[in-house]
Amino acid sequence: MSNNENLSIIILAAGKGTRMNSAIPKVLHELAGKPLLNHVVDVAKLLNPSKICVVYGHGGEAVPLSLADDALQFVLQDPQMGTGHAVQAAMPFLDGKGRTLVLYGDVPLIKADTLHQLLESGSGMSLLTMKLANPHGYGRIIRDDAGNIVGIVEEKDASQEQRKICEVNTGILASQTARLKSWLSELKNENAQKEYYLTDIVSIATREGEKIRAASPGQQWEVMGVNDKLQLAELERIFQNENAAELMRNGTTLKDPARFDLRGSLSCGKDVTIDVNCVFEGSVRLGDNVKIGVNSVLKNVEIMDGTEIAPFCHIEDAAIGRNCKIGPYARIRPGSQLEDAVHIGNFVEVKNSMIAEKSKANHLSYIGDATVGRNVNIGAGTITCNYDGANKHRTIIEDDAFIGSDTQLVAPVIVGKGATIGAGSTIVRNAPEGGLTLSRAKQMHIESWKRPVKKKD
Ligand code: UD1
Ligand code: CA
Repeated sequence: MSNNENLSIIILAAGKGTRMNSAIPKVLHELAGKPLLNHVVDVAKLLNPSKICVVYGHGGEAVPLSLADDALQFVLQDPQMGTGHAVQAAMPFLDGKGRTLVLYGDVPLIKADTLHQLLESGSGMSLLTMKLANPHGYGRIIRDDAGNIVGIVEEKDASQEQRKICEVNTGILASQTARLKSWLSELKNENAQKEYYLTDIVSIATREGEKIRAASPGQQWEVMGVNDKLQLAELERIFQNENAAELMRNGTTLKDPARFDLRGSLSCGKDVTIDVNCVFEGSVRLGDNVKIGVNSVLKNVEIMDGTEIAPFCHIEDAAIGRNCKIGPYARIRPGSQLEDAVHIGNFVEVKNSMIAEKSKANHLSYIGDATVGRNVNIGAGTITCNYDGANKHRTIIEDDAFIGSDTQLVAPVIVGKGATIGAGSTIVRNAPEGGLTLSRAKQMHIESWKRPVKKKD
C-alpha cells in the first residue's frame, strides 16, 4: 500500500510521568509485553501516514534508542513547555501538506477505527471528545448556543460553571497541517500551568472561522491514559479481557478469561482449550484440539492438532507436531522440533534438537543438540553431554534405539538404528546398529564388610 501523502502523525511522548515513580520514561513501560509507545506507533502505522514524528524529551535518548525504528522521525522537546509546545517542535519536520493527527504516547489502546472516524468527520479540525459522568481532570469542550465547538478549557483554568461540562477533550485531534502551524505560532502560556496548551488552538481556529468537528471513541478505554502503575495494570487487564473475548468468540475455551495473558499474537484452531495462568508471547499458533495446561508459558511456538501440553511447561522457539504429549514440567528450548506423537515428560529439557515420530523421553532428561529418530525410547535420567567446555557437539540417535536409564551420551556420538544402550552407561564411542552396548563397572559383593559403629567416649 502506498503512503497517505495527506496524513502526518505526531505522537506526544515528552512528558515526565512523575507518578510512575520510575527511572524509566513513562512511554517505555510495557503493556502486554510491549512499550506503551510501541502500541501507539503500531496503530499510527495502520493509518499509513507519510510521516510519524515522535516528540520525546523526559528520559533523554532512552526513547529513540529503545524504539530504534527508521520509519519514525524523533523530535527532541527540551524543555517540555506544554502540549502545544510539543506539537510546535515537530512542525519543522512536516512538509505542510495535508492533515496532521496528534496522538499521545501514553494512551496505548486507541483503535485505528476510531482514528479513521475522526479523520472522516471533516476535512478541517476534528477533535476526539467523549462524555464522562465524572469529567474531573480533563479539558472541557466549550460549545456555543448553536452547539458548535468554540474552545477547550483546562480543568485548572475552568470556572465552576465550565467544570460542570461533561464533554471532555481526549487530547487526540486532527487539523490541516498548514493552518495548525500558524495557529500554534499564536499560542501564549498565560494560564494556570504556564504552559503552551495545544487545546488553545481551538478558540484561535474558531475566531478565524474554522468549523470544528468532533468524533467519539467506540470505547472509553481507548482514550484512557497511563499516569501511574495502577492505571497501567487497569489498562493491561482491559486489553487482556479484549484478547480473551476475541478468542472465545472464535471458539477457544479459556478456563478463566481473567487469568489469561497474551503478549504478542495467538492463533487457535478449532476446540482449543487453555487452562488458567498461561502466558503467550511472540507469535504462537495452536492447531485444532490442542490443550494447554495450567501455568504454561509459550513463546514463538507452533503446536499442531491434538497435542496436549500438561501443566507447568515452558516452551520457546519450537515447533511441535500432532498428538504429542508434553509435560507436566517440561522445558522445550529454542531450535527444537518435535514430530507427531512425541512424548516429553516431567523434568525433561530439550534444546536445539529434532525428535522424530513416536519417540519418548518421559522422565528427567537433557536432550541438547540431538537428532533423534523415530520410535526411540530415552530412559529416565539420560543426558546428552553436548558441551565439552568450548564447543557444542551433536548426538545422533537412530530409529528404534532404546537408551537405558541414566545414560550419558558424550557427543559427538551416534547410536545406531535399533541399538540398545544398557542402563547407567557412559557412551563415548558410536554404538553400532542392533545389539546391546553398555559401559558399566563390574558389580562387587564384599561379604566381610561391616558397617562402622559410632565410638563411645
Ligand atoms: C491534556 C489536554 C486535556 C485533555 C487531556 C486528556 C492540553 C493542554 N490538555 O491534558 O485537555 O483532557 O490531555 O488526557 O493539551 N507532553 C509532551 N510535552 C509537553 C507536555 C506534554 O510531549 O511539554 C505529552 C505527554 O507526554 C502526554 C501528552 O502530551 O503524552 C499529554 O500531556 P499531559 O501533561 O498529560 O496533559 P494533560 O494535562 O493530561
Ligand atoms: Ca498534565
